[in-house]
This record gives sequence, C-alpha cells and structure tokens, in this order.
Amino acid sequence: MRREPARERPLSKVEVTGFEARHYDLLMDLFSGGTYPSFIRRVVRDMEIRPRDAILDLGSGTGRNACLMDRRLSGEGRILGLDIGREMLDQARRRCRARSRVSFEKRRVEEPLPFEEEFDKVFLSFVLHGFVQEDRLRILANARRALRPGGELLVLDYSECEPTRSSWPIRLLFRLECPLATDFVRRDWRRILAAEGFGTFRIRHYYLGHVRLLGARRKQPFSPGVRAAATCLYY
Ligand SMILES: C[S@@+](CC[C@H](N)C(=O)[O-])C[C@H]1O[C@@H](n2cnc3c(N)ncnc32)[C@H](O)[C@@H]1O
Repeated sequence: MRREPARERPLSKVEVTGFEARHYDLLMDLFSGGTYPSFIRRVVRDMEIRPRDAILDLGSGTGRNACLMDRRLSGEGRILGLDIGREMLDQARRRCRARSRVSFEKRRVEEPLPFEEEFDKVFLSFVLHGFVQEDRLRILANARRALRPGGELLVLDYSECEPTRSSWPIRLLFRLECPLATDFVRRDWRRILAAEGFGTFRIRHYYLGHVRLLGARRKQPFSPGVRAAATCLYY
C-alpha cells in the first residue's frame, strides 16, 4: 500500500497530498456537483486579466486555473505558479507544458519570496483559509511585495460569515473543512488588507454568496502612522 506523505502543518488541509492530490480536480468537480468548471471560468473572467499581465498564482495546485488565465494573455503576459505539493506541481507542469508563458516553482508561499514589484496580479485561490493567521499575514506581505504599485491581489475563498449561524449544509461544510477555515471566515478581511497596505476593494460573489473573489490593490508605501489610520478607515 502506498504511504501518504505526512503533512508539514497538521492543522492545515490546503497541503494536498496523496489520493486527494492525484484526483484533486475530479474531487472538486464531484464535490461541487459538476459546477466547478463553469464557476472557475467565471472567476477567471471576473479577474479582468489584461493580455500583458504578469500573474503570480500562490498555491497554484494542478494548474487548472493557470491554464484558464493563460488563455487571456498575449505573448508578453506570464504566469508563475508556486506550490509545495510534488503531485500538484507534476500535474500542473504536465498540463501546462505547451504553454510557454506559464511556469511553476516549488516554494512555500508563507516564507520570504524573492519577488519585488514584478507582478500585476497575485492570485490566491482557496489557499489563504488554510493557514494560521501569522502565516496568512506573511503571505499577504509576500503578495504586496511582489505586486507593482497599483497591482491587484485577488483572493478567491470562502466569504465572511458566522458558520454556527448558517444553514445546515454550510455548518456541515465547515465541520468537514480545515478548522482554520472557520477562523478565516470570522475575520474582517478588508480591514486586515487595509492594514497590510491594500485598498480599492472589489468583490464578486459565487455559490449564493458563500464564496467570493476579493480584489484589493496595492497602495503606495506608507509610514507607520498612516498604517494605523488605514486600519480604521478601510473603506
Ligand atoms: C486547496 S488547494 C487549491 C489549489 C488551487 N489554488 C486551486 O484553486 O485549484 C491548495 C494548494 O496550496 C498548496 N499549498 C499548501 N500549502 C502551501 C504552502 N505552504 N506553500 C505553497 N503551496 C502550498 C497545496 O499543495 C495545494 O496545491
């Protein structure tokens, strides 16, 4: 029997390995009742990708999203996907091998990344909820540093809510999900992003509002005083 490699952070379910990694796309399609392909196409359309965009995809998974995003780029655009899952990276590289604008690297997204003002968009699709808050802030700092001023962070993830006051299917979902997902949806992400140097928010909702794409633009560098004020005045 094949042994499943141990997860590096036991609380997190976003470190996808073994059977789940090898069949990730199929499982997402089944879990969503076959709606995932049209959902993710809609998301990519809502990302408002321009042909020359440089896009950093943090936790790029099987490369399904990268392929869809690549269709919206011209020769000068590019996509760099970062992931730590060997099986995920293998699938992504296989799937995108004919796409010269797309590449993948094995990197932990919560560790310091070597990118400075290189990207127009940073995409985080169902990744951020799976980390402890300290690591989420490290990821946001990496995203901010990697973005050109005015570039946009796009977080596709569960919408803010109180799971215990939601309908039973949502309560069930959060019981099955990584425990960190409950912590994630209870937080005020626009406030957090404002404190981390982002602004000009936009939101698109999917799945009856339970999932959202939150766009936030990188602001110009600011002083600690302005940072404190931004925490209060985030709209
Ligand atoms: C839930 S999947 C989402 C994949 C993809 N973004 C999507 O929407 O289809 C989470 C991905 O994040 C990757 N991941 C988890 N922890 C990571 C880390 N610390 N650094 C980089 N990638 C990570 C996993 O390997 C997995 O591919």
